[in-house]
Amino acid sequence: MRYSRIVATGHYLPERVLTNDELERMVETSDAWIRARTGIRQRHIAAPTESVAGMGERASRMALETAGLAAEDIDLIVMGTTTPDQVFPNSAVIMQERLGVAGIPAFSLEAACSGFIYALAVADNFIRAGSAGRVLVVGAEKMSSIVDWNDRSTCVLFGDGAGAVILEHTQTPGILDTRLHADGRYKDLLQFPSGIASSKARIAEDALQMKGSEVFRVAVAKLGEEIVETLARHDLDGNAVDWLVPHQANARIISAIARRLDLPMERVVLTVGEHGNTSSASVPLALDLAIRDGRIQRGDLLLLEAFGGGFTWGSALVRY
Ligand code: ACO
Repeated sequence: MRYSRIVATGHYLPERVLTNDELERMVETSDAWIRARTGIRQRHIAAPTESVAGMGERASRMALETAGLAAEDIDLIVMGTTTPDQVFPNSAVIMQERLGVAGIPAFSLEAACSGFIYALAVADNFIRAGSAGRVLVVGAEKMSSIVDWNDRSTCVLFGDGAGAVILEHTQTPGILDTRLHADGRYKDLLQFPSGIASSKARIAEDALQMKGSEVFRVAVAKLGEEIVETLARHDLDGNAVDWLVPHQANARIISAIARRLDLPMERVVLTVGEHGNTSSASVPLALDLAIRDGRIQRGDLLLLEAFGGGFTWGSALVRY
């Protein structure tokens, strides 16, 4: 049998940190409101010249260096992003050129905040099918470029960054399971409404729109079902999980999910306070942080999950 396993991870966060105090001077909000409703204290914001492909490249180079590999050792790149630098070439191809590995397949996919989980599932399936041996999986986002900085209900939530994971074929399972879902009936609750082929011609003025409290309710319900079902497929429950590595949208959503699993918050990787919601980048950023600081150890059972616009959602059960 062919399986995939995580060899190494990497991350990149832009230098500029935007604090809640600074946001108080930009919109009618308060540090106390943001912390109480979301758990966010600060977020990183990319410089105007920083690109999604460039942030992805920085995270990928860190993962390659950690693994002791060269970019030439990779045979597929899959990137999750909702904020591509260009419509085409896709951001994974732009990143491939920056990494200097012409010829290997590279594509990005769009699943809002679930982008990394979708990309991980695709990469895992390529490896299981024997179509790839070593895959670079990236989540990279410049959310600051699609939020309305005058809309206090959304601009306080998001941040920029990138995370990368190298997957490699193995005979003993690392990625034990991936599950993906989407339900387009919820498309109006969380969206960036214009696009290249859209009948609307207001692209430059458009921004992310969200019905926050409705998103919150559906996210808790869908993710709660998702993780319980994922574990049940393997005759497991929350007790077996060493680390929950959730999408970092809101600390209250995360603690509701942990409660559903009876998992103490000490076994949850929480980065939303420092990173905000970095969409596709949030899960690989959190994963890399907890591996680097030694919390996640080889052999640990990890449950990764994400929920985003669409709605899209999914999870991955991983033996690290
Ligand atoms: N500062 C101060 N007050 C604010 C702010 C702010 N930044 N934003 C909203 N408010 C006000 C509202 O205007 C409202 O005032 P009112 O009662 O006078 O009308 C009040 O606060 C409560 O607003 P709600 O939206 O009901 O607040 P809620 O407790 O739901 O928190 C939040 C809002 C944080 C957005 C929450 O709903 C949430 O996190 N939702 C989920 C978001 C999410 O998970 N997104 C995931 C995916 S993102 C992606 O895919 C791109």
